[in-house]
Amino acid sequence: MAVQINDVAPDFSADTTEGPISSFHSWLGESWGVLFSHPKDFTPVCTTELGEVARLKPEFDKRNVKVVGLSVDPSDSHQKWAEDIRETQGHALNFPVIADADKKVSNLYGMIHPNASDTFTVRSVFVIGPDKKVKLMITYPASTGRNFVEILRVIDSLQLTAKHSVATPVNWKQGEDVIIVPSVSDEDARKKFPEGWKTLKPYLRVVSQPK
Ligand code: BEZ
Repeated sequence: MAVQINDVAPDFSADTTEGPISSFHSWLGESWGVLFSHPKDFTPVCTTELGEVARLKPEFDKRNVKVVGLSVDPSDSHQKWAEDIRETQGHALNFPVIADADKKVSNLYGMIHPNASDTFTVRSVFVIGPDKKVKLMITYPASTGRNFVEILRVIDSLQLTAKHSVATPVNWKQGEDVIIVPSVSDEDARKKFPEGWKTLKPYLRVVSQPK
């Protein structure tokens, strides 16, 4: 069955642009992880995406997130393409890209959608927590480049909600008000949020973002 949210992310070994990973789980260690696939090396949208992830790498680092890309191209192809990414996007690859020529990892994670392409991976993103469980999955078609600033926003939400009994509302960004989850009673909320909250409906309680 395909990987689903809260499943343990399948472990694997793989060849990458930064050398072999013998166990994905060990490579992640205590960090969060982003594993994302792109359809093919030397293609325009993918070139812009990998340049953008390289530009945002310090933001992933700040959040204790390790990033790894993947396509079914071999490692020497990734290495040659890396020169084009640096030249055209102004950011050199600074994270590993898996060479999944035998499609082992792509198949483990369901990154090949046969009605889109039998041969290439779609644009999948998996965010994995330090407990190795899948926290987020999104899939884009080959023709649409992803918004990796949105992935950072989701990671901010995931990291906040992992620590506090809150959820984040539509379009939430770091520092904005959050929502007390329905499973927390008003009595418990008074202990957790002594500075109070706003009750718009009994099920919609808005509180300042916990520190
Ligand atoms: C691209 O990255 O530009 C791309 C890859 C596969 C199909 C269409 C576009």
